[in-house]
Amino acid sequence: MRPMHVVQPDTETFDLAAIRARLDDDWPAVNREIQRQLKSDVALVNSVAHYIIGSGGKRLRPLLVLLSARACGYTGDKHVTAAAIVEFIHTATLLHDDVVDDSDLRRGQESAKRVFGNEASVLVGDFLYSRSFQMMVEIGQMRVMDVLADATNTIAAGEVLQLMNCNDPDTTEDQYLEVIYRKTAKLFEAGVLIGAILADQSRAVEDAFVTYGKELGIAFQLVDDALDYDANLEQLGKNIGDDLAEGKPTLPLIYALQRGGPQEQLLIRRAIEEGGCRDIQPILQVIESSGALAYTVSKARDASTRAIAALDRVPDSAFKDALIELARFSVERRY
Ligand code: IPE
Ligand code: IPE
Ligand code: MG
Ligand code: MG
Repeated sequence: MRPMHVVQPDTETFDLAAIRARLDDDWPAVNREIQRQLKSDVALVNSVAHYIIGSGGKRLRPLLVLLSARACGYTGDKHVTAAAIVEFIHTATLLHDDVVDDSDLRRGQESAKRVFGNEASVLVGDFLYSRSFQMMVEIGQMRVMDVLADATNTIAAGEVLQLMNCNDPDTTEDQYLEVIYRKTAKLFEAGVLIGAILADQSRAVEDAFVTYGKELGIAFQLVDDALDYDANLEQLGKNIGDDLAEGKPTLPLIYALQRGGPQEQLLIRRAIEEGGCRDIQPILQVIESSGALAYTVSKARDASTRAIAALDRVPDSAFKDALIELARFSVERRY
């Protein structure tokens, strides 16, 4: 069976490079800051950290931090450090995530855990986490510390919550949504909130960014979970079917389980309970006939629409336009 491409390839419309270019020197400054802060006197830390950071990634979260700060009229330079911090936290979670999820491919190349092993991946993840806290101290603002300390703790709890749902076919849509808010959306929320905090905005504007980041992050993870069943491997740079192999009850499976007939339900329940299922095709058929991917993407589109609506309270600018474009990208993306 051919992949379904319910998420239409529309990457041409979304030119991330053009959005980065709107930030003038901010973007190269973030990349310089990332390289500067990666340094360690321990060779293996350097190897693993450069390996994962050098493999690219979309760098969507640092982009969001810079854009929210600029959309709020910020003229200082602490947003550059804040953007690098958020990318470090994200990268730390990826190093850990590929160990936990047993994923061999990341950003189009072998994952760090595959190349360097689980131990090195976990420990260098810890290095990046703790480096990000050193950088927060450099920023020297208690509110920023507060938001990021809270975010990292929420992400960790979200990952544990997800672990508890693994192999449980009775996981509900609400339980799933709680997990994706914590493990993914919280960092988007924190990133854009910090932009507003640095720019000394009112609570009303801060709240607008909180809603924007939260809804954007939820949309982003919903689409990630759809892409796990329906993507082009080269384009995504990650293996398809990892979630199924892990027995991870993401929304496509939860929905297909609700809508499928008795035989189909049995198939999905067993795949979730037992894990290790590498034959994605029979499951994909149920996912297709039940409209599970279309449902997942429609939920993402709703969240993205709420994200964009929240920006009503933010003054118009090219930066705000870019934030709106990124909310759309999060739904339409194929990578
Ligand atoms: C991957 O995030 C992890 C999720 C939250 C789905 P990204 O898709 O932003 O990963 P990179 O940084 O671009 O590789
Ligand atoms: C990513 O979840 C969330 C975090 C890394 C905290 P996934 O496990 O779905 O991400 P991918 O698909 O491996 O990138
Ligand atoms: Mg994973
Ligand atoms: Mg995934």
